[in-house]
Amino acid sequence: MKTPYQNLLVISIFLATCIMVFVHKFLFPLYDTMPKKKEMKFLGDFEQSLCTTNLKPVQVPLFWKHHCPKDGIVTVAQGGRLGNQMWEYASTWAVARRTGLEPYVPRCIRKVLDEVFEDLSIPPLGYVSHCPAKWDTFIRSPEFWSYTNQSILLPRFAVLPDLVLSWADDIRHEFRFKRRLVEASQRVLETANHLLNSTALVYVGIHVRRTDYRDYLWRTHGMLLAGEDFFIEAMNYFRKKFRGNVAFLVVSDDPGWCRRNLLKSHSDVFVVSKGGVTSPGQDLAVMAACNHSIIDYGTFGVWGAILASGETILYNVTKHSSIRVSELLPNWHIMN
Ligand SMILES: *[C@@H]1O[C@H](CO)[C@@H](O)[C@H](O)[C@H]1NC(C)=O
Ligand SMILES: *[C@@H]1O[C@H](CO)[C@@H](O)[C@H](O)[C@H]1NC(C)=O
Ligand SMILES: *[C@@H]1O[C@H](CO)[C@@H](O)[C@H](O)[C@H]1NC(C)=O
Ligand SMILES: *[C@@H]1O[C@H](CO)[C@@H](O)[C@H](O)[C@H]1NC(C)=O
Repeated sequence: MKTPYQNLLVISIFLATCIMVFVHKFLFPLYDTMPKKKEMKFLGDFEQSLCTTNLKPVQVPLFWKHHCPKDGIVTVAQGGRLGNQMWEYASTWAVARRTGLEPYVPRCIRKVLDEVFEDLSIPPLGYVSHCPAKWDTFIRSPEFWSYTNQSILLPRFAVLPDLVLSWADDIRHEFRFKRRLVEASQRVLETANHLLNSTALVYVGIHVRRTDYRDYLWRTHGMLLAGEDFFIEAMNYFRKKFRGNVAFLVVSDDPGWCRRNLLKSHSDVFVVSKGGVTSPGQDLAVMAACNHSIIDYGTFGVWGAILASGETILYNVTKHSSIRVSELLPNWHIMN
């Protein structure tokens, strides 16, 4: 039988050990017993921390086994869905172009984008996981970047329209859709063409975002969702401009609402998205194949319109990055 004093002694020794470990590890890490190991931080060590999903072991191609970034790198943390991750990728791409640093994106972002696009040029960070990371030289924004061995880690939801759109044609070229998505979107356009039986048809892609944006818009902007008036007015603008030779292809997270509110008696409106089956890559490819765009809010619609690269009418959400994009690209108009 142990006495209460013996128990107390055990507890005290345990607590003392905890405090020593804490001081040693966190307060004065210089006194770490294995300083070498602590210095050895590899780029691969923090790829997982940039991702919201679990990474699998990486297969590194031969070339990359012998390659390490000479100077600093640019990379980014993953956040949001397809549209956000396209901005995260494109921002990394543009910062690398501006600074000359080597760009890498975490594999989780490549995985999402590789399902939609072909031959992306930025390699996954996992390919240089064996290279040492100089953590003390990482900064969060290109604004503070000053020397070539300084790395930049862009935050999740990074959106740098000014930088990205100074090479608008090149970023469109970077986001090339997979062949099956291009073919499927061509079939959507052909079907509309066939049904309308018109020569010289102009296609206008419409993005209607509803479900999750109702709460988001109210919380962050104190605004309600765009109503049918916005879309109908914007469609009438294009109907008039192209004298009726126009087909509207609607992609949406709420196709039911679109059918109830946008079709009315018009035969030139086609709701492309199917309820319940979300295929963001396919919807984006349809928007990109169109000649012009009508979008409400959110990064997805903005990318659809950037890739379509025609005239764009967008809903007025002040302080959304879409407004900045509309100032940078020709032929983008805000409609209330
Ligand atoms: C960055 O490079 C400069 C010279 O190229 C060197 O003097 C400096 O120590 C380097 N800094 C780091 C943190 O590696
Ligand atoms: C399509 O239009 C052409 C002339 O514009 C007409 O000759 C043809 O019959 C039409 N076809 C259908 C299926 O309506
Ligand atoms: C409109 O888009 C279609 C499909 O992408 C394309 O074939 C056509 O050339 C475009 N029209 C104009 C005027 O750009
Ligand atoms: C957009 O809305 C803001 C605030 O409601 C307003 O100040 C601005 O003039 C509007 N922009 C356009 C182009 O209507």
